[in-house]
Amino acid sequence: VTAEKAGYPHFMLKEIYEQPKAYRDTMNSRLSEKRDRVILPEITMSDEEIRSIRNIQIVACGTAYHAGLVGKMVIERMLRLPVETDVASEYRYRDPLVSRRTLTIVVSQSGETADTLAAMREAKSKGAHVLAITNVVGSTVAREADDVLVTWAGPEIAVASTKAYTSQLIAFYLLGLYMAQVRGSVKQEEIEQTIGAMQSLPEQVESILEQAESIQSYAEQIAVHNNLFFIGRGPDYLVAQEGSLKLKEISYIHSEAYAAGELKHGTLALIEDNVPVIALVTQPALAEKTVSNIKEVKARGGNVLGITCEDSAELQSEFDHTLFIPRTLDMLMPALSVIPLQLISYYASLARGNDVDKPRNLAKSVTVE
Ligand code: G6P
Repeated sequence: VTAEKAGYPHFMLKEIYEQPKAYRDTMNSRLSEKRDRVILPEITMSDEEIRSIRNIQIVACGTAYHAGLVGKMVIERMLRLPVETDVASEYRYRDPLVSRRTLTIVVSQSGETADTLAAMREAKSKGAHVLAITNVVGSTVAREADDVLVTWAGPEIAVASTKAYTSQLIAFYLLGLYMAQVRGSVKQEEIEQTIGAMQSLPEQVESILEQAESIQSYAEQIAVHNNLFFIGRGPDYLVAQEGSLKLKEISYIHSEAYAAGELKHGTLALIEDNVPVIALVTQPALAEKTVSNIKEVKARGGNVLGITCEDSAELQSEFDHTLFIPRTLDMLMPALSVIPLQLISYYASLARGNDVDKPRNLAKSVTVE
């Protein structure tokens, strides 16, 4: 078993460290030789069909749903088309508005999740074109979808998803760029800039992984708490939601992810002395507003870990603990900022003596509705 884990104590840690490779494998074969275009020969949709899309729906469960939230942001920015992201088990029951010009994207690591399958069949029966983002070639989702974009993350064994999530983000960036090329909705210069930034992501992830020790010591401090909050705005909020799920899944610490600006509309009441708050502040345009929310938290005694970029040293005085991560394009930040959150969950779970790879009551692939 240790051999399978390649020397790592748990599959989850191994999979966290496999992310630079998963990014490269998912991305590199899909870039033109000159690295100026995304090429997706596996997509059967014609350019005409891509141009005729009127709305996009993303459906998934769990961590894949959180990737879908980032997907919505990416596609809306690049295509200027309305995108909705739904939890698969809700999508079916709301009589979703689907036309022949709807693209429904289903996201599933395993390709076997019952709710996701049911949602996919619903979309198909209503006439949508279905594109699957999955990690398993030949899975049910892959077989039934009209188009498949495989995430080349390799097998994911730990119940808590890490490299599958980040590979799904890469898949969304690629798909957004590809459809934007066809629709002409993003300037060539920006496409090249985004591809260039994406190619630096694996190395940037590696540099975050080098900080594992200090992340572990922070995780050990929060492991004694029973309540925790994640806050952020924009892309940071989307990542906060995934960070919170990860922590709950394996450490059993209750946590909530809040849009930073929404905190004062209720949950601020729960911030008491020493409650840990993890604040993501990676978006320059939103930083000032998030900092004012952090001040509200601190005024009530909250203990704040700020996760921000290396070029924002001036923010350090706002936090009790600071973790600097490399900067990339705003839209790509989730592919970096989630990494410390994965490590925090892992080390908090470890500190609590939990079975990291097999948390209680959870299954890797849920085949019941
Ligand atoms: C289960 C797993 C989650 C996963 C979700 C969706 O609940 O515990 O980690 O995100 O299913 O799985 P899928 O294979 O469809 O991505």
